[in-house]
Amino acid sequence: MSEAAAGRLAGRSIVLGVTGSIAAYKAVELLRRLSAEGARVQVLMTRSAAAFVGPLTFETLSGQPVLQDPLELLPDERIGHVVAARSADAIVVAPATAHWLAAMATGLSGDVITATCLATAAPVVVAPAMDAGMYAHPATRANVERLHAFGYTVVEPATGALASGLVGQGRLAEPERIVDAVVAALAARAGGEPGLAGAASPPGGMPRARAGAVDLAGRHVVVTAGGTAEPIDPVRFIGNRSSGRMGVAIAEAALARGARVTLIVGQTAVPLPGAATIIHAATTAEMRTAVLDVLPETDVLAMAAAVADFRPRRRAAAKLTRDQAPTLELEPTEDILAEAAQTAGRLAPRPVLVGFAAETGSLDRAAEKARRKGVDLLVANDVLEPGAGFGVDTNRVTLVVPGNAPEPWPLMSKREVADRLLDRVAAILSARESPAGREAQGAGESVDRTGTAAARSPGEVPE
Ligand code: CTP
Repeated sequence: MSEAAAGRLAGRSIVLGVTGSIAAYKAVELLRRLSAEGARVQVLMTRSAAAFVGPLTFETLSGQPVLQDPLELLPDERIGHVVAARSADAIVVAPATAHWLAAMATGLSGDVITATCLATAAPVVVAPAMDAGMYAHPATRANVERLHAFGYTVVEPATGALASGLVGQGRLAEPERIVDAVVAALAARAGGEPGLAGAASPPGGMPRARAGAVDLAGRHVVVTAGGTAEPIDPVRFIGNRSSGRMGVAIAEAALARGARVTLIVGQTAVPLPGAATIIHAATTAEMRTAVLDVLPETDVLAMAAAVADFRPRRRAAAKLTRDQAPTLELEPTEDILAEAAQTAGRLAPRPVLVGFAAETGSLDRAAEKARRKGVDLLVANDVLEPGAGFGVDTNRVTLVVPGNAPEPWPLMSKREVADRLLDRVAAILSARESPAGREAQGAGESVDRTGTAAARSPGEVPE
C-alpha cells in the first residue's frame, strides 16, 4: 500500500484574519497548517486579537508583517488592506467573534479584516468561536445567515466545553476542517461555481445540493474503487471488470463539495483525482486493512469497489508453467463492508455507510442485501442493462434505504449518480447532527469516535 499526499494550497496567497476570541491561539496552528499545505499566508489581526496572541508569533511563522489597522500604509505607501484584498486567493477569518460577525454582516469596516473582506473578490471562509449563548442568539444567527447570503463559507463551531464553563456549540472548528473549507472554496471558485447558488430539485428526488455548495467541508469521505485482484501465482490473478469509474466519480464529487477524500483503489482504468489521498490495495485482504485502519477517522464510507467474494486458497510462489495447469480451490474472502458496519456501530459519531450491489437480471435481492450488510444506503444496479454496467460513463441505479421502498433513478452519468448520492449522504449527516438525531444515536458528547470516554487533554483550553 502506498500513500500520495497533497500541498493543496501550493502557490496560493491566503489572508488569515484573527479576531479577539480566546480561540485566537488556535489560529497559530491554523497558520502552520495553511503553510504546510503550501500557502503563502498574510495575517491580519484586530486590536483585541492582539491582546490574546502577540503579532510577533504570527509574523515569525508567516514571515510577513501583520496588518492591524485599516489605515495602515505599506512601506511603498500603498494601502495595506487593499493590497491584501487584491492579492488574496482566499480569505479565512478564524476565530470570528460575535462582534466581528455583526460588523461584517452590516459592512462596518472599522477593523482591518472587515475592510479587507469588503474590498476583495476572493472567496471568504469564516470560522466563528464564542460562548454558546452568544452563538445561539438570534442576532448572531441572523448575522451568520447574512454571511451565507454573501456567498461566504461558514465553518460551524463545534460543540464542547467553553471558556465560560458551559458546554455548548461555540468551540472553534478543528484547524483541519477550516483548511478543508478553504481548499473547497478555492475549488468551487476555480470550477466557476458561485459560493452559493440557488437549489435545483431533480425530478422525484430530494432537493439537490446548492451548486458549488461545500456541504461536506470538514468531512472525511473514504471511497473504495476498482476491482480487487486475487493472486494465483506472481503474474496471474482472479479479477473482475470494474473500471473504478463510479468510485472515482464519487471521490471527485465529494472533493468538489469540500470533503477530504481518501480513495482506496484496486485495479482501475481511469485517472485518479490528484486532490484525494490515494491508498493502493490490490487484494481483498489489503483493502480490508486499509478500510478498517481509516474507519475511526471516517465520516462517510462508500464501498464502490468490486471486491472479490472468493480467492484461490493457495498462491503459487513461482509462475505456473503450461504443464502445471492447476485446479483452483477457492475460499471465501472477508466481507469488508459487513465488518466495517460492525465496527462502525461502536463509533460515535457512526460513519455513514454506503454499499453497492452489482446484480445480474434482477434487483430483488437488493433490499435484503442492504439489511444484511448494515448500510445506510445501497446503490444497486443490473450490470446486464445497457448503459448500467462496467466501463461506461453512465449508470441506471436503484437506491435502497433500508425500511423504505426502493427508488429507481433514471439513466444518468456516473457523476450525476455520485452527486445525487452525496445529497442523500449530506442529508443523513445533518439529520444526525440535529438535536433529535443526536439523542437517537445516543452519542453523548463525552463519547469519541473510538467509542471510549473522551477526556479533555491536559493542554486543551476550552473557549
Ligand atoms: N463487499 C465487501 N467485501 C466483499 C464483497 C463485497 O465489502 N468481500 C462490498 C462491495 O464493495 C459492495 C457490497 O459489499 O459495496 C455488496 O457487494 P456484493 O458483491 O454485491 O455483495 P456480496 O456480499 O458479495 O453478496 P452476494 O454474493 O450474495 O451478492
